[in-house]
Amino acid sequence: MTHPSTVGSFDPSPRTVYERIGPAPISRLAERLYEGIGRDPTIRGMFSAELGPESEAVRDMREFLMQLFGGPQDYSARKGHPRLRARHLRFAITVDARAAWLTHALAALASTADEYRLDAATCAEMRDYFERASAFMINS
Ligand code: HEM
Repeated sequence: MTHPSTVGSFDPSPRTVYERIGPAPISRLAERLYEGIGRDPTIRGMFSAELGPESEAVRDMREFLMQLFGGPQDYSARKGHPRLRARHLRFAITVDARAAWLTHALAALASTADEYRLDAATCAEMRDYFERASAFMINS
């Protein structure tokens, strides 16, 4: 079905990722990221015991990504400014930990893109963000 905002318009690409794809793929990506992390022996131990779809960890990630990509600002309403690097200082994030995290983020993105038929520009924008942000998070 054509999105209402495209009716009578030839602009196929609204401003933000969230406006283009909506909440469902972003939510699914957050779940898949933590599914991957949950099975990763190298970084699993840093994370909470519970990483399922209803977990606090997935909720934080889901709300953060929605907000980051132009959706509702629920993360900040609940938790304040993301200060992502500061919030990660209590974890020893090495080059190897970053590589593991990024592998799961990109795998989650790839399968979500496949399931929801996400366009290439949207995928590239999300991939670029994950690559840059994860490099910025290295602190050990
Ligand atoms: C570079 C490798 C990274 C590692 C090893 C890592 C590790 C962690 C850990 C252990 C937690 C706590 C999760 C829990 O409650 O069990 C966390 C939380 C979080 N991470 Fe990362 N992270 C990484 C990169 C990133 C990146 C690139 C993002 C941006 C998308 C991100 C976003 C978040 C968010 C939003 C939270 C929740 C923070 C909160 O509200 O307290 N992380 N991360």
